Amino acid sequence: MSKRRILITSALPYINGIKHLGNLAGSMLPADVYARFQRLQGHDVLYICATDEHGTPAELAAQAAGMSVRDYCDEQHQIQRAAGDGFSLSYDWFGRSSSDENKILTQGFAHALEANGLIEERVSQQVYSVDDGRFLPDRYVEGTCPHCEYEKARGDQCDNCGRLLDPVDLKHPYSAVSGSTNIEIRDTAHLFLLQSKMQDRIREWVEASTDWPQLARSIALKWLDEGLRDRAITRDLKWGVPVIGPDGAVRPGFEDKVFYVWFDAPIEYIAATEEWASATGNDAKVWWRTEHGADDVEYVQFMGKDNVAFHTVSFPVTIFGSQQDWKTVDKLKAFNWVTWYGGKFSTSQQRGVFMDQALDLLPADYWRWYLMANAPEGSDAAFTWEGFQAAINSDLANVLGNFVNRITKYTVSKFDGALPAAGTQGEDEAWMESELKASLTRIAEHYEAMEFRKAAAETRALWATGNEYLTRAEPWVKYKSDVDGAAVGVRTGLNLVALFAIVAQPLIPNTAKTILDTLGIPEGNRKWPSPEDAGLLDALPHGMPIQAPPVLFQKIEDAMVEEWTERFGGEVS
Ligand code: MF3
Ligand code: ZN
Repeated sequence: MSKRRILITSALPYINGIKHLGNLAGSMLPADVYARFQRLQGHDVLYICATDEHGTPAELAAQAAGMSVRDYCDEQHQIQRAAGDGFSLSYDWFGRSSSDENKILTQGFAHALEANGLIEERVSQQVYSVDDGRFLPDRYVEGTCPHCEYEKARGDQCDNCGRLLDPVDLKHPYSAVSGSTNIEIRDTAHLFLLQSKMQDRIREWVEASTDWPQLARSIALKWLDEGLRDRAITRDLKWGVPVIGPDGAVRPGFEDKVFYVWFDAPIEYIAATEEWASATGNDAKVWWRTEHGADDVEYVQFMGKDNVAFHTVSFPVTIFGSQQDWKTVDKLKAFNWVTWYGGKFSTSQQRGVFMDQALDLLPADYWRWYLMANAPEGSDAAFTWEGFQAAINSDLANVLGNFVNRITKYTVSKFDGALPAAGTQGEDEAWMESELKASLTRIAEHYEAMEFRKAAAETRALWATGNEYLTRAEPWVKYKSDVDGAAVGVRTGLNLVALFAIVAQPLIPNTAKTILDTLGIPEGNRKWPSPEDAGLLDALPHGMPIQAPPVLFQKIEDAMVEEWTERFGGEVS
């Protein structure tokens, strides 16, 4: 198999606040699992992520924290970086959309788009809060709904009658930032990206992209069917990428404006690659510019379903519209939502677990396993403590954990802690080997198709088959009358322990490492096994020392579920 070059990005988490388990499960975690799988296959993988730092929410969160936006972002970036490390997210680079690289690239794209006739300055009316000294983004204006008279309608939508609104139409508008009613409607100029001109080009590309999983493709086509609308790519804000003209000076009239966060954020995929390249002495062009070899790259994106339009329509307009040789996405994996018992995660209502809290309760592998085994692929998936408890206790503690403990402890107590050499493999081992090979192929196919639920289910099924093998081979029964026969079962079991851990690496990398370290399997022998290899079940050196690993998984007791339900919400039974 030839070595592939695979570029992986996961949607960039907003800087304001640590992410909850649902965010993790719908972008960063599956991207990490996929990256780990492809590295195990021996491919050249570059997994890039970053914090998405611009926009009004960041400005307001900084204000609320009494910090400068820059300091706030510095702090939050470190927090998110630590949470990612805690979850063993194996980014090759975790960048920041506020980087200089991103400023330069973003401005460069705007210049190219304008030169190609795709950017136009337009004047529109917008709500200005005199006391706040700023234009208010749509959702930060509230007032009385012109349709139903509801008094707390948001500028973009009325929560009472559901109608979409234009903030300038609100009656008795006030600022949601300060509550001030000193509001004026003022003219303001913005840059508009003429997406309508790119409609056909984008449709042609989406229709040719038959490799995309279904969810992403159908969302993209739905947006195209509705027709692409020109959209403002600048905002009246201070924090963001300044609107600099090709001459290097601020564009006249844009002194107090920056690019819209959704314009610069996806460009950060490229910019973060440049950040990585300059920090590590690599070249970003070979991953991103087709004229520098990037047409060999397979580019895979991971994101929640709300992000699909931005990645299949808006960002491609930027890329294609520049008429430069940028690499575009080849496969785009989108996820539905992880819900909290069917509802929304909410910090204020204490519903749901956030990344830092999760790690205070249990190690990363427990969450990784449950979230991927229940990945929100076909539909939304509810997190429940009961489901979590069942998955951990059954899949990890019983099926995998017991297998590993049973066979390693037995080797220590009955075979002097050495991998037994005696006896020859027979029918039971031949059966196990053919099951193993079929399973390895299926798991790899599921990962390749980015079907994470299936990959986890098949991984678990392989562990269960190992348990069945032990039931058939019965080394503990044979030991009484046929020590050599028992030795075959133990030897095969130990080989299975190593294989189970190797195959589990994408999902539960830390536990897998503990097992492989305890067995003393060298790094170089931890690659994905090829089903074609002969002797998979007799690969470990005869006589090698065997120790039992520490208890791999702690069972989740009912009392823990009760306590967590009280702290984080759930259904009290
Ligand atoms: N921050 C956005 C969100 O959480 C995702 C940005 S993805 C990017 O929804 F491509 F634009 F960076
Ligand atoms: Zn209304």
